[in-house]
Amino acid sequence: MQTIQSYIKENKDRFLNELIDLLKIPSISADSAYKSDVLKTADIIKISLEEAGCNHVEICETDGYPIVYGEKIIDKNLPTILVYGHYDVQPPDPLGLWNSPPFEPVIQKTELHPEGAIFARGACDDKGQMYMHVKALEYMTSNNELPCNVKFMIEGEEEVGSVNLAKYVVANRKKLQNDVILISDTGMIAQDVPSITTGLRGLSYVEVEVTGPNRDLHSGLYGGAVANPINVLTKMIASLHDENNHITIPGFYDNVENLSEAERAEMAKAPFSLDAYKKSLEINAVYGEKGYSTNERNSIRPTLDVNGIWGGYTGEGAKTVIASKAYAKISMRLVPNQDWEEITQLFKTHFESIAPKGVTVRVTPHHGGQGYVTPIDSIGYKAASKAYEQTFGKTPIPQRSGGSIPIVSLFEKELQSKTILMGFGLDSDAIHSPNEHFGIWNYLKGIETIPWFYKYFTELKK
Ligand code: BES
Ligand code: MN
Ligand code: MN
Repeated sequence: MQTIQSYIKENKDRFLNELIDLLKIPSISADSAYKSDVLKTADIIKISLEEAGCNHVEICETDGYPIVYGEKIIDKNLPTILVYGHYDVQPPDPLGLWNSPPFEPVIQKTELHPEGAIFARGACDDKGQMYMHVKALEYMTSNNELPCNVKFMIEGEEEVGSVNLAKYVVANRKKLQNDVILISDTGMIAQDVPSITTGLRGLSYVEVEVTGPNRDLHSGLYGGAVANPINVLTKMIASLHDENNHITIPGFYDNVENLSEAERAEMAKAPFSLDAYKKSLEINAVYGEKGYSTNERNSIRPTLDVNGIWGGYTGEGAKTVIASKAYAKISMRLVPNQDWEEITQLFKTHFESIAPKGVTVRVTPHHGGQGYVTPIDSIGYKAASKAYEQTFGKTPIPQRSGGSIPIVSLFEKELQSKTILMGFGLDSDAIHSPNEHFGIWNYLKGIETIPWFYKYFTELKK
């Protein structure tokens, strides 16, 4: 299969231009103003799967954005790989912090990407990584190298919680039957340190509202005499962590999986420079739960973070006012065995219980999902490991990530199959942030590595 390299060399410009065209469409699932763009993106994915050699492709309507499903079944007795990805992207704001417009992709060199990187919203998360699979399939079908069956399921609502995909999976168990699920929607440690993601955190996302007096009040006439919802809300939020940065919600840690000392020692072997980490973020110290390292804090430990907080007067100048209401959006990242619905309930009960007299508190749950861990002795993991060895010349390191792809645990429950997370992005690629980018080297390396996974998985499965 030496020819994947020459195929990439010959088709590199086209591979880049096709991705660039895809990145020009603002498929922002969270903002209904972009509805026609999201739908247009689904149509383009459909065409690209047909051109890559799927023998059946369809747009599956849902109550939200459609799922693009494609397959190429060559022999019912051969294994089947199910590829999942998402064609929707995060909103690009704050727009002012982008060096070039988010939906006008440009190629620029960076320190970590000397071959150049494509700057655009979705470049890495997940259009670029999803499209690697389409191009890898194109290579395999056009060179008679596809060793097994393949199904593609590309959704348009990952960034808003995959609610309709969950229903679709439950309703289509048979159609989606597979031997392994393959996803590129995570990252790796560094260009010269390949890694396979073996864990994802779960998520509980809530919104809180604190209401005090029935209207905004003059802060001189009423200040000091009634509860100020913003003062109260910030005090309540501050109380959610203790002096050791432990979360104070009763029962929160009850089901947290505790790793053995041996497992923690194994984790600590992964290359990591605290100095480089601090430097890249321009911070003079890290911060977090006492007793855990930075890599533990952002992967095997649960967290609680305010994602947004508002209320009162935030315009120019000063206005003396006590707001009637204050709000915050809060996310909790969860680890395996913590049930997101249970945690959401624990949060709600606790948050309501700590509200002082004089205010009312409302907690509204948003979406959530369970965490995920995958063993490193499965056929899928071994096939992935061998694929990286082939193209990176190094054995990849298993790594648990702090991010979430909630649908992965549902895949395991409903389809009874394990997911292999072969991510090719870097943490510094700025997903969800201004100036998101994806290295050209990473994009092409992904396309090169994927066919090897197909080959080794099929061989090991026999
Ligand atoms: N691709 C990310 C998740 C990710 C990124 C996992 C890097 C591991 C490493 C995904 O698109 C994402 O952003 N997920 C959301 C959750 C979702 C419910 C909105 C997240 O993690 O915030
Ligand atoms: Mn993603
Ligand atoms: Mn994302």
